Amino acid sequence: MRDALGREINYMRLSVIDRCNLRCRYCMPAEGVPATAHADILRYEELLRVAQAAVSLGIDRFKVTGGEPLVRRGIVDFIRSLKELPGVRQVTLTTNGLLLPSLLDGLLDAGLDAVNISLDTRDNAQYQAITRSTHTADEVLHAVRLCAGRLPTKINAVLLPETAAQLIPLSHLAEELPVDVRFIERMPLGAADASPNEPAHKETIDLLRAVWPDLAPVQAPRGNGPARYFAAPELKGCIGLIQAVSHAFCAGCNRVRLTSTGHLKPCLCYEQGTDLRPLLRGGADDAALRAAIRQAVYQKPAAHCFAERQDITEHKSMNQIGG
Ligand code: 5AD
Ligand code: SF4
Repeated sequence: MRDALGREINYMRLSVIDRCNLRCRYCMPAEGVPATAHADILRYEELLRVAQAAVSLGIDRFKVTGGEPLVRRGIVDFIRSLKELPGVRQVTLTTNGLLLPSLLDGLLDAGLDAVNISLDTRDNAQYQAITRSTHTADEVLHAVRLCAGRLPTKINAVLLPETAAQLIPLSHLAEELPVDVRFIERMPLGAADASPNEPAHKETIDLLRAVWPDLAPVQAPRGNGPARYFAAPELKGCIGLIQAVSHAFCAGCNRVRLTSTGHLKPCLCYEQGTDLRPLLRGGADDAALRAAIRQAVYQKPAAHCFAERQDITEHKSMNQIGG
């Protein structure tokens, strides 16, 4: 379906839980966020009802997010049910990867189409500092290696001042394995501090070209999102840049987000949205649910204000929104 500005909205991010087994510095406060009461989180049947209504409006690609989606019990069966909904074209997952080794076979069997694995550094000590945990980058790399070649796999690295030296080591993963490696500008939401953002685009490309001189922009569309991809003959995967802040791609935005408590958000930057939970639990019929989704999409703002910052009204942290 189209929003008021004519943008085609065909992609929904579904956050299934706000809890996580990590505490990434740019995502959550150190103490974590107060656990949302179980009853406030949408049940799988409720999520599937929203998805079904969304499909009837032309939203046919879904990304399952968190917190960490794989910590929610029953997640594999949920993904299977979502994938089986008539009209659903694609179901993908964003995860920190820690639980993938035990769940991957089930996820593949359930029909998962692709996975994004978050990894900001290959350095174990730095990984522990960023994620405020005892887990290691090696664990995540193990998960990446299990996925690579079995399903389309992307590595998402949030660019941080302290991980500047990781640009090349992380990019090497696209040489070693058939995975895309994407560098994401940190968005100033929730726990993300407001320190100046990361290296400029030109600088990043120059650094990459020092290693892969033939690195060239990929023209054909790749994936559902706003990443700009670069390829080189030596690389099995692509290198992508997601520059949501410095190069806003709002004019081509195709997505809405559902929080784990059922708040449908048309834009990451603003709190504004439509609360679907009272409808789901108040006996609303499918027509009313569709109307509420349509309304949220219709009100999608023209653009975020992450670069200017002063008008950001979203105060939730990323784990409550799902990235
Ligand atoms: N800016 C950009 N990306 C973020 N993520 C979490 N917080 C932020 C932020 N402030 C990313 C995670 C993960 C995805 C779900 O969202 O690293 O890759
Ligand atoms: Fe968890 Fe992802 Fe947030 Fe890290 S960024 S704390 S892995 S939800």
